[in-house]
Amino acid sequence: MRVMNNKVTLLSLAVAGLFAASAAQAALNLDTGATSAIYASEAIPISPATTFTLTNTGAIPGLVTRHDVVVADQFAHNSIDEGLRLAKARGVRTAKFAHNDPAELEQALRELRPYRHAVIAVDGVYSMSGELPPLREFQRVAAANDAILYVDDAHGTGVLGGQGRGTVRDALGGYENTLVVGSLSKALSCLR
Ligand SMILES: Cc1ncc(COP(=O)(O)O)c(C=O)c1O
Repeated sequence: MRVMNNKVTLLSLAVAGLFAASAAQAALNLDTGATSAIYASEAIPISPATTFTLTNTGAIPGLVTRHDVVVADQFAHNSIDEGLRLAKARGVRTAKFAHNDPAELEQALRELRPYRHAVIAVDGVYSMSGELPPLREFQRVAAANDAILYVDDAHGTGVLGGQGRGTVRDALGGYENTLVVGSLSKALSCLR
């Protein structure tokens, strides 16, 4: 972590929390995914339509204080949006930028200055279109603007990249200044 060295513990806690939430969800078969839904109907009589979406909603507000800002791609997953709303309710300034557009991202950050740190939240794969974000450009913008890149790789984890390790490692060669959020409710919940 280049920017948030002093927040490693906080990040670890946030990540542990969100994986715990995801694991709990998988264990309870509350996801709407086909595999989980079948298990739910066999195991406990819970409606397959019941969904908990806690991943980004819990993690994003936990990463920032009112001295920080959060910017998100306009097409980022709804749970990122919910995370922004919660952060905003706690006094954190937030903004959206045009889809997959590094120049618009940079502009949004410029307009939010001054701030201490920024979190740039994007999806690793956009599930409705299959598009991938320009992670290299976003990483460059993050490094130049006191920001950390936050990638929700819910749909890439276990599916894309070498050995299914997701989109970030393939695109960036590592995790420098980047926080990757996976989900146990997608590919991993299909494992038997
Ligand atoms: C891109 C993306 N991020 C996050 C989530 C939420 O994941 P979870 O339900 O494991 O909290 C979903 C669920 O549909 C998603 O599609």
